[in-house]
Amino acid sequence: MELENSVAVRNEGRTGEKAAVAETKKVFVKTYGCQMNVYDSQRMTDALAADGYVATDAIGEADLVLLNTCHIREKAAEKVYSELGRIRDMKAERALEGRQLTIGVTGCVAQAEGAEIIRRAPAVDLVVGPQTYHRLPDVLARVRDGGKVVETDYALDDKFEHLPQPKPAEIIKRGVTAFLTVQEGCDKFCTFCVVPYTRGSEVSRSVAQIVAEAERLAAAGVREVTLLGQNVNAWHGQGPDGGEWGLGRLLFRLAEIPGIARLRYTTSHPRDMDDELIEAHRDLSTLMPYLHLPVQSGSDRILKAMNRRHKASDYLRLIERIRAARSDIAMSGDFIVGFPGETEADFEDTMTIVREVGYASAFSFKYSPRPGTPGAEMNDHVPEAVKDERLQRLQALLVEQQQAFSVSMVGRTIETLIEKPGRQAGQKVGRSPWLQPVIVDEKAGEIGDIIPVRITGTGFNSLHAEPVAEAAE
Ligand code: SAH
Ligand code: SF4
Ligand code: F3S
Repeated sequence: MELENSVAVRNEGRTGEKAAVAETKKVFVKTYGCQMNVYDSQRMTDALAADGYVATDAIGEADLVLLNTCHIREKAAEKVYSELGRIRDMKAERALEGRQLTIGVTGCVAQAEGAEIIRRAPAVDLVVGPQTYHRLPDVLARVRDGGKVVETDYALDDKFEHLPQPKPAEIIKRGVTAFLTVQEGCDKFCTFCVVPYTRGSEVSRSVAQIVAEAERLAAAGVREVTLLGQNVNAWHGQGPDGGEWGLGRLLFRLAEIPGIARLRYTTSHPRDMDDELIEAHRDLSTLMPYLHLPVQSGSDRILKAMNRRHKASDYLRLIERIRAARSDIAMSGDFIVGFPGETEADFEDTMTIVREVGYASAFSFKYSPRPGTPGAEMNDHVPEAVKDERLQRLQALLVEQQQAFSVSMVGRTIETLIEKPGRQAGQKVGRSPWLQPVIVDEKAGEIGDIIPVRITGTGFNSLHAEPVAEAAE
């Protein structure tokens, strides 16, 4: 973003005529949901920067407010409408002052609900689905001409080809860790999930596009890149050698880029963990030993009803193979409790698989019926109170495992990527290979450095550490 654009330019002539003020338009983007939305919000900001908008963190200053939304659970979708209520009042106050506020809804609620959003929240000016973000400047021009615009087509043109790339200064302002979407959409149709409907079918970005973007990130100073996809390990593409590449091969290629010290990927599906990806975990020290591999349930009956298309034992065997390739790998997962028909015995199977795997971190949710998904039409919905009680038991176990994992770090020397200033003066926050925030003295290293630190204790969701001179174990 050009600095000149971020300040109002005032021409005060010597003759004392009235100052001509060229106001800069400001955009405030609020992001809900998964990392893919975080990435998309950045790319939308980049597209709008090319259209003269400067990003702001203060909603009160904004001329354009975009809510980049999530539809995964009912609560996530409803949050958007309560936020829209607040913004509607702001828009009305502005109108009294003769100023305009444009309101847009993007992301998965936009895709799922389309024009219905404007019926429910008439203050909304534009609704744009995830496949059409490159058309945002055009959409805004149409809104300025006095219309409401709903754009939820699955665009035939490749949005990534058309979205402008951020400048190096903007990249590094966002941090030394970065997301890079390599794959979008999902063809798996788990019976609980809206993603195949909100993000469309699986599409992989090309090797050339991904490598170029990773090189741009590295040149700007990014040290750690997380490849993103709703089903990231379903990524495939044609390599420069003409052969068909999977995610494993892509990781080997990205590891060659100078400056990129760490690679991660998320979220993966157990059915798409192929041999080459497991070999990447074995052979690439750049690939961090942390894997988010959701299983959702430990019950074969429920896994079948969910259309996960694997058994609990397949998942356990897979983890065994991954651990054989990389012994220090830490597992993370997602779980749903109270899927239709889940009995106490099914739930106990979930507790058992959690005990067998031992998770370093995990996300767990109460099943939320989503309109249009097969799950919502099933019989035997589990009462809310039962879901609550199961979620509590599961979360107690997961928290216990997470804490045990943190405590197991104490006394060890680990490589930490110094990421940003800490919340308290005199501190910096780093990131362990296992994604834990590591709090160190600010003099321990510069942002972007990867340094060995000794873990001295654990905090709430973080590790405390002191610098050490010698190399990490
Ligand atoms: N593609 C990923 C998950 C994407 S959604 C995968 O296949 O694992 C992220 C998580 O939200 C899911 O793993 C699931 O645990 C949860 N989730 C999805 N739909 C849900 C629903 N209807 N109710 C509750 N949780 C849900
Ligand atoms: Fe949703 Fe299943 Fe696709 Fe994951 S694999 S995005 S849970 S449908
Ligand atoms: Fe939510 Fe869409 Fe991500 S539904 S989890 S924002 S893909």
